[in-house]
Amino acid sequence: MSYKAQLDPKRIPTHVAIIMDGNGRWATARGWDRSVGHQKGVETVRRITTAASDLGVKYLTLYTFSTENWNRPPEEVAALMSLIFTSLEEDLFMRNNVRLRIIGDLKRLPVDVRTSLENLMAHTAQNSGMTLVLALSYSARWEITEAVRTIAVSAAKGEVVLNDITEQTITEALTTSFMPDPDLLIRTGGELRLSNYLLWQCAYSELYFCDTFWPDFDEEAFYAAIQDYQSRERRFGKTSWQIEQTTEK
Ligand code: IPE
Ligand code: IPE
Ligand code: MG
Repeated sequence: MSYKAQLDPKRIPTHVAIIMDGNGRWATARGWDRSVGHQKGVETVRRITTAASDLGVKYLTLYTFSTENWNRPPEEVAALMSLIFTSLEEDLFMRNNVRLRIIGDLKRLPVDVRTSLENLMAHTAQNSGMTLVLALSYSARWEITEAVRTIAVSAAKGEVVLNDITEQTITEALTTSFMPDPDLLIRTGGELRLSNYLLWQCAYSELYFCDTFWPDFDEEAFYAAIQDYQSRERRFGKTSWQIEQTTEK
């Protein structure tokens, strides 16, 4: 039986964040160029976007290119940029009523990639289903540094008083201020690390790691991750007994 039928429709995570890892190793294991793995990875993006939207996930945030990935060989960076440019099909968004948002340092992207992303964001802005968020030229430390700068400027102008700076102030200064924190963070490809992804936002996310390389990650693998998530008890520092009291009401 498909994992999908076993899912509790009332406990679908609102926000799923994914570290899409393993494209290069998937291709290398087949004797192919790493870029073939990235091309194959785009097909997985399409499949998982559709599956998440069908399940009722509200936000899907995909780690697409990290700040640190700029340090890869120039040919690989160029191949990834051109892939982002060519694979942004409006059809996927319109068919699924999905809105596109980008988080990251867009200034560093090639102008053509940036322009087409901005156009697609504008074209899909009215879609009312899931929001697909691509983290592009993104790292959590970059994001937090930018937020600190923004808050410091407001403080210097006297718009913000020191004692008024709360966790909420920081949350609102981050690029992710338009959405709730991830409920579930999935990393494919076998590595057990966060690689500078959503460090502030994942403070209480459920973490799910699997060995499957991203090009092989299919709908069933996605449902399995959600089923695992649904088996967890999210306590947020409280005791099991306290959680039971609030859910019984
Ligand atoms: C993830 O796959 C995609 C990006 C980081 C852009 P990798 O390219 O990191 O693949 P591996 O981890 O080397 O197999
Ligand atoms: C994380 O994967 C970044 C993306 C998936 C875009 P990496 O492959 O870059 O991470 P590390 O270097 O193995 O930590
Ligand atoms: Mg990797």
